[in-house]
Formats: sequence, structure tokens, C-alpha cells
Amino acid sequence: MSETLHSAAPAAQSPVVPQGISTPAYIYDLARVRSAYERLRSYLPEPSELYYSLKANPHPDVVAALYALGCRAEVSSPGELEAALAAGVPSRDILYTGPGKRDEDLDGALTAGVRDFAVDSTWGIDQLDRAAARHEVTVTYLLRVNPGGGSRGAGLRMTGDPSAFGADAEDIATHPGRYTGGEHARIDGLHLYLATNITDEDALGDSFSEAIAVASALREALGVPLRTIDLGGGFGAPYARAGDLPGYPGLAGRLAGELDEALPGWRQNAPTVAFESGRYLTATCGQLLTRILDVKDSHGRRVVVLDAGINHLGGMAGLRRVPPLHPDVVRVDSEPTQLTQGAEDASGPPGPAMICGPLCTPLDTWARSHPLPAVAPGDLLSVPNTGAYGLHASLVLFLGHPAPLEVVTDTGRVLRSDRLTFVRRPCAD
Ligand SMILES: Cc1ncc(COP(=O)(O)O)c(C=O)c1O
Repeated sequence: MSETLHSAAPAAQSPVVPQGISTPAYIYDLARVRSAYERLRSYLPEPSELYYSLKANPHPDVVAALYALGCRAEVSSPGELEAALAAGVPSRDILYTGPGKRDEDLDGALTAGVRDFAVDSTWGIDQLDRAAARHEVTVTYLLRVNPGGGSRGAGLRMTGDPSAFGADAEDIATHPGRYTGGEHARIDGLHLYLATNITDEDALGDSFSEAIAVASALREALGVPLRTIDLGGGFGAPYARAGDLPGYPGLAGRLAGELDEALPGWRQNAPTVAFESGRYLTATCGQLLTRILDVKDSHGRRVVVLDAGINHLGGMAGLRRVPPLHPDVVRVDSEPTQLTQGAEDASGPPGPAMICGPLCTPLDTWARSHPLPAVAPGDLLSVPNTGAYGLHASLVLFLGHPAPLEVVTDTGRVLRSDRLTFVRRPCAD
């Protein structure tokens, strides 16, 4: 494809849309991926490694762009592993995580050459050891830890309570010998991931402080060399709302000071300190374009029906995996008007509208009362900041609508446009 794009509106959140594109369509701009990466790196202490968590957006071009910038890949399923490999990430730069892995998942990863895993339990260690023995290789793992306590400001706390994630810090400290591995799978580090989507710098810093303290204590208790301390992430990002990425200008300095105390040697990569991010790196690269299919009045409320719904965006919002969906909807036309809550539009009186998708369920409602100008069937809307947990956190198979187009651009130039399809194939088992 060689379409060029036109920039539709001023300001940072301006929709930049390919002309004549069919909808619904996700557009991911790689220039925005790069700038998010640069920004996040500037908040991290150096030296440190950064993993890109594919769960936020496994599109191969997005993954390839982040790998080219220096991110390693954190995957937690056969599909994410395949996506990382397809994007050109070598198996040596892949970390395979996740609280439940089937033997065949491990076999697939080992066959692909993956040698770094994260495990969440003593059973997980034994399972990995047996798998590595079957493949006659030795592998290393990060032991994921579930500490006690709680982090302020966590969008979604991952540990501290009964959880599938990680082994209890207390049990590791009490029985360190159970966690150091077997003949084929040896512990190589610790993996802490305490929370996600923290926009407040102090709260994020507190979460990392907790991770550093726990890592330091367990390192001592385990009494074996640990090459990597993965402190996880928690970097926040706007979700389907206009807005910029949060800044953490004091974070690198704060963490460097704490690491000097708790893990001396980290400046010489002994141990290597690592971080993980999905949403911060990709949220702002994406927008979802959707067209209005119908506009009507229903019991005194204007109802706008779109060609995208929870099958394409926000399917996991009800599960608290992504924040509740209150999408900002930006109308895109030749002289577009950007609409946010309460904005006025020249073309008609603003008014609350119920924004629905095309699915045959009342659950397919993005917003019950959202300010919108006069709009008509055929109008194009854009939902900003949907590059993370967009398509891949949606209910794409529900009701069998085609997946949206995925368009990759780089500063306005279209690089690729394609669509995921689902095909039923006969299977031996
Ligand atoms: C282990 C781990 N790493 C990374 C992430 C990515 O989180 P985020 O997209 O908020 O950066 C998650 C999210 O749940 C996670 O569980």
C-alpha cells in the first residue's frame, strides 16, 4: 500500500487517518511507539533491561519496532511466542512467563530455542526441569514472587493476596532449597510484577521500592547467584481517552539510589535489573477508526450504533483487566472537530448519546451518555490511545464479525494493512 495520510486536527491527540480506509480499523503509528519507548527509557535507571510485554499488542510490526529499539520480549502463551518469533525476535531474547503452562507449551518454547522462563511455584519448577530434561537442554528461570503488602495507586494489583502469580515470599524465605531448581532448570533471578497502570510517580516508586526490598531479602535467603532481578512494571497510560502518557521524572534517580543500597553491583549488571511494560510503550500509538451505522432516538436518548463494539475494543473492561471504558470519540472529517466531554460542535447541538456497537447484546455499549454533536450514519469516528489492550483484549470471536483491519503507519506513511482471520481446521486430537 502506498497511501499517504493527512493530519486531521491540531494538537497531540489529533487523529491522523488514512483516506478512504475501510472500517473498523486499528491504526498503529510506529513513530509514536518510538517516542513512547524513548520516554520510558528516560525514566529508568541505567543500566537496565526493558521487556516489551506482548499481551498489550502483539502486532508483529509493533513488536519488531520495539525489538529494534532494544526491548526483549516477554511472552506468556504459544500465540505470543509465535508473534515474537514472527516479528524477528530471536529466541535468546524471549522470556516465557505465565502462571499455567501446559507441557506442550513448554515443549514448543524449548523447540523454538527459548531458554529463559519465569515460574510461579515449586510445581512449575519441576515441570520446567522435566521439560528441559526431555529436550536434553539446561534452562534458567526467574522465580516469580508474590510478596505481602499492598501498593498505593495500583490500577490493578497483581500480587499480595492469594494469587496464581508467583510463590509466596515467605515460603521462599523459609524453604529456599525448594526454589533453586533441578538438574536441567536452574534459578537465575527473581521476577516481581506488583501492579499495573500506575500514573502517580510516588505510588509507582513505592511499588518498585517494595519490589527492590523483597528482591534483596530473598536474594540473601536463597543464597545462590542471581543474574537478573526483574522488577516488573506498572507504568500507566491513557486507555481509549484523549491524553498523554504520564511522566516519572524523578523515578530513575530514586530507584538508582535504592538499588545502590539493596543490590550493590547492579551498575555492573551484577545483577542485571530489568523492567517490563506493555501499555506505556504502545497505548498512544493506536487509534480505532469506526463508522456510524445508525442514529436514532430511543426513549428520549439518542442512540448511535457503530461498526465496532466490545468485540473490537474493551471486551476485558468488564473483567477489570483494562480500565472501564469511557471512550473519547473524535469525529474525523475534512475539517474535523475534536470532541471531549462537554465540547461544543458547530454542526449541531451537542447532546448525550448512547454509544453502542453492532453486537446483538445490550452489553455491547461503550458509553451510556457521551457528549456528541449531530452525527449521521456514515460519519467516521476515532477512539484515541487504543494501541494497548485494544484488539487483543477484546471479544473478537463473539458473534463472528470480521476482525478490524490493522494498519501500520510510520509518521503518516502506510506500511502495512491486513486483517486477522479465524479458520476452522481439522485437528488430529
Ligand atoms: C508479568 C507481567 N508483565 C507485564 C505486564 C504488562 O502490564 P502493562 O501493560 O500494564 O505494562 C503484565 C500485565 O498484566 C504482567 O502481568
